[in-house]
Amino acid sequence: MNVDEAIRRRRSIRGFLPREVPEDTIREIFALAQHAPSNCNIQPWLSHVVSGDSLRALGDAMAETALAGNLPDPDFAADKVFTGTYRARQVDAAVQLYGAMGIERHDRERRNAAFLRNLKSFGAPHAVFVFMSAAFTEREAVDLGIYAQTLMLAMTARGVDSCAQGALSLYPNIVRRHLGLPEEDRLIFGISFGYEDTTVDANRARVGREPLDSAIRFYR
Ligand SMILES: Cc1cc2nc3c(=O)[nH]c(=O)nc-3n(C[C@H](O)[C@H](O)[C@H](O)COP(=O)(O)O)c2cc1C
Repeated sequence: MNVDEAIRRRRSIRGFLPREVPEDTIREIFALAQHAPSNCNIQPWLSHVVSGDSLRALGDAMAETALAGNLPDPDFAADKVFTGTYRARQVDAAVQLYGAMGIERHDRERRNAAFLRNLKSFGAPHAVFVFMSAAFTEREAVDLGIYAQTLMLAMTARGVDSCAQGALSLYPNIVRRHLGLPEEDRLIFGISFGYEDTTVDANRARVGREPLDSAIRFYR
């Protein structure tokens, strides 16, 4: 698969088969993503790949915490309210996703259930939790974003589906405890991955993009 095709084919998958990705393929994907560029080549990503029973236990622990009414306590604020164009795009994405799942806007119960599925990696057999040192700020977060897309494209090229998830970073203390990580490792997002379950309604959602001429300005 060439790069153009991988970029076009990748989309967020929110329902996975239990089938695991072969270990060799996982290692190949992560080795390839090591080629991602970063400022001064510091490679600030701290990636922890969690699979199988360990991932299920972690997802259950986060879901139980949420169900018990504990509010998220992310290392990086996740409570921004989008306005204007950004709000419109956010709403459109939600309409596509919840529409595909047949969930009404005010159906709190089913929306909560969808949130819990987020915390449980949508049933994926694997997830990578991406951290960076507490010494870093937005500039190094840029590197992590570039790394994330490199990873996801390497996955797509091998027929592996994925979903980047801020939701996996909402309860960082639980993740750190589960993985035995120090407080100074800050969790910014996770990426669930595996193989799409095409019977899951959420996977029928499609979101668009701004046309080129309204998104980009060219100068000379
Ligand atoms: C950093 C980041 C965090 C995201 N967090 C979530 C999430 O918590 N839950 C979710 O279902 N999708 C999440 N997404 C997926 C976006 O909703 C998705 O990328 C966007 O709607 C565009 O759709 P596409 O990935 O199918 O092209 C996240 C994406 C990114 C890049």
